[in-house]
Amino acid sequence: MSESTPFVQALGLHKTYAVHSGLGEKAKKIRAVDGVNFGIRRGEVFALVGESGSGKSTVGKLLLRLEEVSSGRVLIDGTDLLSLGKNDLRAFRRRIQMIFQDPFASLNPHMRVNEMLHEALAIHGLFKSGNQRNERIAELLQLVGLAPEFSSRYPHEFSGGQRQRISIARALAVEPEFIVADEAVSALDVSNQAQIINVLMDLKTDFGLTMLFISHNMAVVQNIADTVAVMYLGKMMEIAPAKDLFRSPKHPYTTALLSAIPVPEVARERKRIILQGDMPSPLDPPSGCVFRTRCSQASEHCAQVVPALTQTSPGRWVACHLHQTTLTESL
Ligand SMILES: Nc1ncnc2c1ncn2[C@@H]1O[C@H](COP(=O)(O)OP(=O)(O)OP(=O)(O)O)[C@@H](O)[C@H]1O
Ligand SMILES: [Mg+2]
Repeated sequence: MSESTPFVQALGLHKTYAVHSGLGEKAKKIRAVDGVNFGIRRGEVFALVGESGSGKSTVGKLLLRLEEVSSGRVLIDGTDLLSLGKNDLRAFRRRIQMIFQDPFASLNPHMRVNEMLHEALAIHGLFKSGNQRNERIAELLQLVGLAPEFSSRYPHEFSGGQRQRISIARALAVEPEFIVADEAVSALDVSNQAQIINVLMDLKTDFGLTMLFISHNMAVVQNIADTVAVMYLGKMMEIAPAKDLFRSPKHPYTTALLSAIPVPEVARERKRIILQGDMPSPLDPPSGCVFRTRCSQASEHCAQVVPALTQTSPGRWVACHLHQTTLTESL
């Protein structure tokens, strides 16, 4: 595979859910993910941001095939994930892992930490002898900053931050190459957030881990991401290198999201834009550009034509008619 081929590729991803609004009513369709394309380079932290309900978690689950796509393809290191049969998929899962927001819900309350980590290693037949496994477990706990004596404890005997370290250790046990971290630090207080982020950044540096980092917290994203992708109502609005996105957002929705960051040097240079109203119902999305109902710069054209995600400069993509006009005019 060439250097420039992304390690993870999402190609035309769609996910539709049928929702029943009431007895006797016909099921309606929610387009949770509506034609999303992006690539993640090996070793990068690719952040996915956007308001609640924009489709971030669904994208994460589709990438790991924890949910089946309605249409589209997922390629990881050149392997078409959706073409894998049950056994091949099980084997491939070692390379791709997920860390969830709520470590309590994702950790088995009846298993001690060492049992959980043993199980993760056993499922994939890694570190065969008991001694090797114990060594690996000690190493994992050290990696996430937990003392070895914690290994005989149960999940409820830990603080929230410690539990999140355990779920990271469990995800890392199988030496994955790609991790989806879905709001992995959102439930933690600020000092625990910072510590967990440090653990994740060390992993990126030491092991070249590739990560999809899902968060609605732009301040956290600014600290950790190489590339940022902004979603709204199931669609990708903007993708850019993190530095460029924070310095000069192109999509009005990105600008509005950044306005909410309570960091003086980011907010000061920009006009504050407060997002008006709530996101429209995904059951009845606006025509044309889905953001237009909350966009101060929307025109009639925006109600009629869906803006395509278009490259405006190397590595920068935006789905907004304002920028497409600029590009055409400058040609
Ligand atoms: N299993 C499901 N059945 C029906 N609708 C679903 C299901 N999962 C998600 N949805 C809907 O799909 C849309 C996207 O949900 P998703 O969980 O991906 O959003 P999100 O960006 O992760 O939000 P949050 O920031 O709140 O976690 C929402 O409208 C949600 O209600
Ligand atoms: Mg979510």
